[in-house]
Amino acid sequence: RFTDLRACEILDSRGRPTLSVTAVHGSRSATATVPSGASTGRSEARERRDGDESRYGGAGVLGAADTVRTELRELLCSRSWPSLADLDAAMIALDGTDDRGRLGANAIVGVSMAAARMFAELQEVPLWSWLRVGDVEPRLPMPCFNVLNGGAHAHTGLDFQEFMIAPVAAATMADAVRAGAEVYAALRGLLAERGHSVGLGDEGGFAPEVTRPEDALHLLLRAIEDAGYPAGPDGIAIALDPAASQFRQPDGSYLLNGHRHSSTDLVQRYVQMVRDFPIWSIEDGLAEDDLSGWRELTAELGDRIQLVGDDNFVTNAARIARGAKLNVANAALIKLNQIGTVTETLDAVETCRQHGYAQMISHRSGETTDDFIADLAVGTGCGQLKAGAPARGERVAKYNRLLEIAAARPELPYGTTELSAARIG
Ligand code: PGA
Ligand code: ZN
Repeated sequence: RFTDLRACEILDSRGRPTLSVTAVHGSRSATATVPSGASTGRSEARERRDGDESRYGGAGVLGAADTVRTELRELLCSRSWPSLADLDAAMIALDGTDDRGRLGANAIVGVSMAAARMFAELQEVPLWSWLRVGDVEPRLPMPCFNVLNGGAHAHTGLDFQEFMIAPVAAATMADAVRAGAEVYAALRGLLAERGHSVGLGDEGGFAPEVTRPEDALHLLLRAIEDAGYPAGPDGIAIALDPAASQFRQPDGSYLLNGHRHSSTDLVQRYVQMVRDFPIWSIEDGLAEDDLSGWRELTAELGDRIQLVGDDNFVTNAARIARGAKLNVANAALIKLNQIGTVTETLDAVETCRQHGYAQMISHRSGETTDDFIADLAVGTGCGQLKAGAPARGERVAKYNRLLEIAAARPELPYGTTELSAARIG
């Protein structure tokens, strides 16, 4: 039986308050810390913030911490829990809202993560081996490193939010991380040489004053080659998260490097980019409510590259199932705090599997050094993880955890099963 539940306000990687939650079970304790997004989907579970402008501009989480120590502590310690699913369902019922806004999605997800860690600890297995979905074998994920930041994560005039490199030909976790770090270093050199800033965005990628996405893609290609890797299926491919909801205009058009695009214009621009560059994955290419645009993109590119739904699916199993019915995307981004509990996150992964959708586990732009998602990616065997640049403590915490798991368990398979050379470039 759990014997105590503690919480306090700490800082995330942007210097904003977030929660640290510790679940106690007799002499054992397990802690989780909670991430927070900046370019959030409208239907995400709602974080609870104090709104007291005299502290942290209203972003404090003292109320949420208090709720963990009182209402949620009472629930957790009131009985023994046969499974995490029972506990998560009880927390959802106790909250009683559709968006988890009463107790706070940040409070609930922190308890769910800490409890998951405790369940694994009580069974004396690593967290990844406890976080399983059906009979899928654990697998080390291919990392997607976000090395150029724009959009809501950098405010430089580059509208696309994330330019990631995917070491698709790496044979091991260690080779993949090394490739990411070497390209990152080459990119820094290239930017410096061309007189660009080498300052960083929220996810640790560089944030140069480049506005056309194609110019950013050229820089990436050059950095990949400078680092000595072939660009494309035999080396390193590119994954994008334009996060298009962020540059959609009230009239439904998209404003991209100063030019208005209809949904069709934007889809055609992606088609051209996929022709010109070794792009194998595009996330949130259209805005979350642009259903016809999403369907057009899926019809154009869905059988050639991975199309990931993030803001539209919000890690919600029902939304993913509806998307599959409507031919929207062929993959889903998976974020714990977007839906609010570990159980529902695993449900979303399972739903993806049932519909033949790939899954990419993801960090948030506001992170902590918690490495839970590394274990989640391994345990679910999803094959892909995005956790930002191969730099900055809160980002490398995830990659380092993967390196440690790989070193301890050399028998684990590595890499995504979603790739085929035919689908890139
Ligand atoms: P966020 O961005 O964490 O700021 O929401 C991540 C993403 O859009 O994938
Ligand atoms: Zn996204």
